[in-house]
Amino acid sequence: MKFTCKQLASTLVLSALSFASFGQGNGPVHQVGNVSDVKINGQVVDLTTDNNGHIQVSVYSPTVVHVRMDKKPLGENFSYAVVGKPKQAQANITQSNSEVTITTDSLVARISKNPFAVAFFTKDGKVINQDEKGLTTSWIGEEVTTYKHMQEGERFIGLGEKTGGLDRRGNGYTNWNTDAYGYSTGQDPLYATIPFYVGIHNGLNYGIFFDNSYQSDFNFGASNNRFSSFGAQGGEMDYYFIYHTKLADIITSYTDITGRMDLPPLWSLGYQQNRYSYYPDTEVMRIAQTLREKKIPADGITLDIHYMDAYKLFTWDKSRFPNPAEMNKKLENMGFKTTVIVDPGIKVEENYGAYERGKQSDIFLKYTDGEYYTGQVWPGWTHFPDFTGDAGREWWKKEIKFFSETGVDGFWNDMNEIATWGQKMPNNVLFQYDGHLTSHKEGRNVYGLQMARASYEGAREHQPNQRPFLLSRAGFSGSQRYTAIWTGDNRSEDSHMLLGIRLLNSMGVSGIPFSAMDIGGFTGNPSIGLYARWIQLGAFTPYFRNHTGVNSKSSEPWAYGEEVTEISRNFINLRYRLMPYIYSNFYLASQTGQPLMRTLAIDYTHDPKVYNGEFDTQFQFGKAFLIMPFESGKNYGKVYFPQGKWYNLYTGEVETGNREEIIPISYHRLPIYVKESSIIPMQSLVQSTSEKPTDTLTVHIYKGDVNNSFVYYEDDGKSYEYQKGAYYKRNINYDARRKTITFDKVEGNYNSNFKNIKVMLHGFDDKAKVKLNGKTQKSQQDFASFIDPISRFDPQGVSNPREGYNVQSFVIKNDSDKMTLSY
Ligand code: GLC
Repeated sequence: MKFTCKQLASTLVLSALSFASFGQGNGPVHQVGNVSDVKINGQVVDLTTDNNGHIQVSVYSPTVVHVRMDKKPLGENFSYAVVGKPKQAQANITQSNSEVTITTDSLVARISKNPFAVAFFTKDGKVINQDEKGLTTSWIGEEVTTYKHMQEGERFIGLGEKTGGLDRRGNGYTNWNTDAYGYSTGQDPLYATIPFYVGIHNGLNYGIFFDNSYQSDFNFGASNNRFSSFGAQGGEMDYYFIYHTKLADIITSYTDITGRMDLPPLWSLGYQQNRYSYYPDTEVMRIAQTLREKKIPADGITLDIHYMDAYKLFTWDKSRFPNPAEMNKKLENMGFKTTVIVDPGIKVEENYGAYERGKQSDIFLKYTDGEYYTGQVWPGWTHFPDFTGDAGREWWKKEIKFFSETGVDGFWNDMNEIATWGQKMPNNVLFQYDGHLTSHKEGRNVYGLQMARASYEGAREHQPNQRPFLLSRAGFSGSQRYTAIWTGDNRSEDSHMLLGIRLLNSMGVSGIPFSAMDIGGFTGNPSIGLYARWIQLGAFTPYFRNHTGVNSKSSEPWAYGEEVTEISRNFINLRYRLMPYIYSNFYLASQTGQPLMRTLAIDYTHDPKVYNGEFDTQFQFGKAFLIMPFESGKNYGKVYFPQGKWYNLYTGEVETGNREEIIPISYHRLPIYVKESSIIPMQSLVQSTSEKPTDTLTVHIYKGDVNNSFVYYEDDGKSYEYQKGAYYKRNINYDARRKTITFDKVEGNYNSNFKNIKVMLHGFDDKAKVKLNGKTQKSQQDFASFIDPISRFDPQGVSNPREGYNVQSFVIKNDSDKMTLSY
């Protein structure tokens, strides 16, 4: 644009005027200011500035630096998200007139004094992340924001349940837990707040966790070409900066800080059938019976709000469910566990037990004048327990005993954003915030986290040696410690299926490995093709639940015709056969925070192709499988194979990596590839996880040029006995150069379900002579088959009555000592 002289002059006058009215160039923006005092105490540096800035920069661990700032003296470091404790770290802290320098084993943090700004460097001096000069950190009223210089080519991923592409560059996001019924594919915010992201540039990656539960805003270069920023409408600037050379380790460090999931009950990894709502009890039994008759494996039935009497929590509708304990017992005998929905809103109704008890215990949220807050939701006008106080949580823990007594195993925590009709909960509602009384503004985003915590602790208390399953809609960083999170009321549309994959991948990279979306879509009805594709994909999501809304068509696997029943059965069967692989991966999540659904950005961080919108829904399920999600109705699709070799799961054919390819897509088979050198333990088909598989564990090994190892883990899948050593764990290693497969000595004192191990070799020379601890093994011709042909419908099924390919296999005893196979 060209300015005329007149325009230029008036612009200059205007900017001079606004400069003047802003005083020192800042006006209503309160900059953090110049450092006037520094105190170094061990790993902690306390600084004050001439503009009333109170700052603490501390070494949390060699790879994590914690930064806190306020324009008043820093308060207690209270956080619902953080459970980790700072670690002793060798940190060298020095200062000059202009700088404080912190050097750890892994990074260098340089704090400039004039004005206060932080920059993080690698030990060899590369910039990882730095405050944007001139902007650094500032306040506008109570709103605080830190501005980071946008590095060249910088990408951003994470932030949990956020719509949009994998790479968030150029976009801005708000965190404000919201009931987002039938949301659009670009809507923001949704239900959960995970203020953690990863920045990637120049071969480097770092994580930032902004620990603040007020409404927060992240800007990754939206409407600006200068900075990325994060800020909140109140509270402290309080963030953890995490640096590792590998992105996966950033997730591990982040979950050191905010905690990890427990081992889930095995049944929660099976297929779950749900709708809004199955009732009466005979209908629930009919669904369970039909699943068994049609030989569609399943472990869970979920009861939505119609089980209650007029949506009143802690009641059963006696006409629909006259004897819930008996129904749950029958279900249990058939291998099903029952999960019930629990909403926080307690109906305001004289003589309704929970309402009266809640009033008596004085645990409902109140306005500033002491009157209870009343909002409308399913039951009509309701009060809401304050889960951010001990009293509220204790009350809830006692109340949910009601369910434990009727044989309920799972708690589905819904509407906990808090959802109220009209959406606008008043800000002058107070939250206990565990001794730090605050308003709705700070309390809202952690309400779902604290509700899940109360449900989790209640379930644990009532059945101490039984692992509970929890699902929640709202959440905050740290929710992973108590609950799985699902993506709420999605739509039965292709774009939503793909969005769901991106949401779950994003949650995975943000510390939430146990996640779900409504398979088939919640609002509307999927086409036959979409339903088929979605259920195939669902088999590769962490919590595999089919759910649909109240007015939609039935969505059981048989509701879309026989062909889809077969397709569904095929992929649900595969899920059950993969249970040893899946469970071992959950073990890993509980130990390291690594998600099951791995965006390719985790292992192929610096490959630009993985961020390309054409490929950014592709993900790994565990490290072995590469899943290619596609809309329904596509006959061909473009895929990207990252570096390495990839085996077609169904045919064993090998694709080389670093390459795009157009592949044919069959309606019957989700495109799935297996990474070279993979180790995949599988079991025989069962109809539910309560059924014992045969005593042979099949371990698939895919020949490759790289080494690999897999942590195999087993235990009883339901209790906490593993904490006392009742587990069975061993590493299985594939050494490409030495040509060996080793089963390390078993750790733990649990007896494996499997007496034998069948090793299936994919891509190996047929004539390879395999030796076990030096002794030649007799191998056999075998058939690797992961799904059944869709006999009546699939043209390929007709010519190929079996779906699979020939491989060599051999069976060995499952010896707990180290076993070395050489070939
Ligand atoms: C909410 C939930 C949905 C549930 C419905 C009725 O919309 O997100 O999953 O079925 O409420 O409880």
